[in-house]
Amino acid sequence: MKPSLLLAFSVACTGVIPASAQSRSLSSFFRVLRISTNEQMSPLSYPPNIAMTPSAGDQPNSDVSSGIIISDVMGKTQSIAIFSGLTRDIDSVSDRLDDPSKNATVLAPDNGAMRSLSRKPWEDPKEYETLGENAYNGQAGEDRAQRNMRRFVEAHIVPESPWREHQKIETLAGNIIWFESKGGLKLIQPGGIEVLSIADKVANGEVWVLKDIINYS
Ligand SMILES: *[C@@H]1O[C@H](CO)[C@@H](O)[C@H](O)[C@H]1NC(C)=O
Repeated sequence: MKPSLLLAFSVACTGVIPASAQSRSLSSFFRVLRISTNEQMSPLSYPPNIAMTPSAGDQPNSDVSSGIIISDVMGKTQSIAIFSGLTRDIDSVSDRLDDPSKNATVLAPDNGAMRSLSRKPWEDPKEYETLGENAYNGQAGEDRAQRNMRRFVEAHIVPESPWREHQKIETLAGNIIWFESKGGLKLIQPGGIEVLSIADKVANGEVWVLKDIINYS
């Protein structure tokens, strides 16, 4: 897998660049820097050229008719910086969010949810059981991690927008989810995962911020 995936995730969550990272490729190094410094940067400085609108508040930024698409705006919402970084590394997902002709609803867990995961998104307890503690070492291990990471991210992409309440839909990973409004909250089911805000509404869909991750295994 791209070493940057695991590395960037660890750094984004801990703020520490491991010593082993020193030898990684230049591009992954810059990615790490970008993610780890993201939270201190002004929303206007990243990404450049686009989306000169305020960061996510109660009111979503509505750029439905401007030609701005999801891939343009994902990076500027600080509260979902960790998840956004992962979407850029998974080709199937980044291609989709970059395609103006394909709508999507991105369900982005906020940084707090990503940091408090009980296991890393590329770890599968079943694989540790069958393969032991070296399950993610070596080329085969990296391939496994890459597959798992892809499934994790794809489980948070609804390949449709608008997405109607109670409309059951298969995510890119194949898990079936829907949402309902209850007591003033919008909840993703199954799991009752709270939608904290809608960060963006743009030409090819919407970015929702979630309080927790979608159960993807
Ligand atoms: C895609 O999203 C836009 C913006 O919300 C909407 O106007 C359009 O109808 C959607 N297209 C499809 C095929 O759902």
